[in-house]
Amino acid sequence: MLLSVKDIRKTFRSESALEPRIVLDGVDLDLEKGEAISILGPSGSGKSTLMNIIGALDKPDRGEVIFNGQSLSSKTEAELTSFRNREIGFVFQMHHLLPQCSVFENVLIPAVPVKDNEFKRSRMTFAEDLLKTTGLWEHKDQKPGVLSGGECQRVALVRAMINQPKLILADEPTGSLDEDNALSMITLLLDLNKQFEISLIVVTHSQEIGRKMEKQYNLRNGKLNLKT
Ligand SMILES: Nc1ncnc2c1ncn2[C@@H]1O[C@H](COP(=O)(O)OP(=O)(O)OP(=O)(O)O)[C@@H](O)[C@H]1O
Ligand SMILES: [Mg+2]
Repeated sequence: MLLSVKDIRKTFRSESALEPRIVLDGVDLDLEKGEAISILGPSGSGKSTLMNIIGALDKPDRGEVIFNGQSLSSKTEAELTSFRNREIGFVFQMHHLLPQCSVFENVLIPAVPVKDNEFKRSRMTFAEDLLKTTGLWEHKDQKPGVLSGGECQRVALVRAMINQPKLILADEPTGSLDEDNALSMITLLLDLNKQFEISLIVVTHSQEIGRKMEKQYNLRNGKLNLKT
């Protein structure tokens, strides 16, 4: 088991509301190495909140996230930073590429803080491999500003892959793309998932995209349920 989410609860307090809002109300999820799943659910149901907790960008009020046999709650802030950088690849709805850097520089950014020098050096060749696989090599010296939305999202995916994470968290990765680009992005995600045995969690509003994953989950009223 790569990931085990156990009984996660998360509430948010707002100044206007008297009662805190329960967003996640006992969420459980198991994910095997190499497994690809989708999470669907209404806007505001807590999908991004759950992804942030799995990726250690946020902490649950209760419950725990166990990654590779280790509880995230037992890790120090420094260990969590390294966990996010080495084990997880994040892809968001907006690509968040640095406009002043070339495509090649952008995809290498997560390798900058890596301390293992040999691994760090090997990232250059890996970046080249990935950019070729994804059809982006011809754009390597260009800035994101001249690329299309679909190309930028693919660059963001290569960047998420650069440290060979064990899990990709993709939160509406096709949310800003048209249908054709959305499908090629999903195909690419699934190719990389198969080729590198990287586990994949895709949050989407599209049933069609959701169905392309091995398992589909629905988040609603604070609970995550496997769609049968
Ligand atoms: N930092 C925060 N402080 C207060 N409330 C928050 C915070 N983050 C999220 N929420 C609230 O938690 C609920 C769930 O938000 P979340 O972003 O996880 O939903 P979502 O399922 O990703 O929605 P969408 O499909 O629109 O992206 C929302 O009501 C949101 O307003
Ligand atoms: Mg969201």
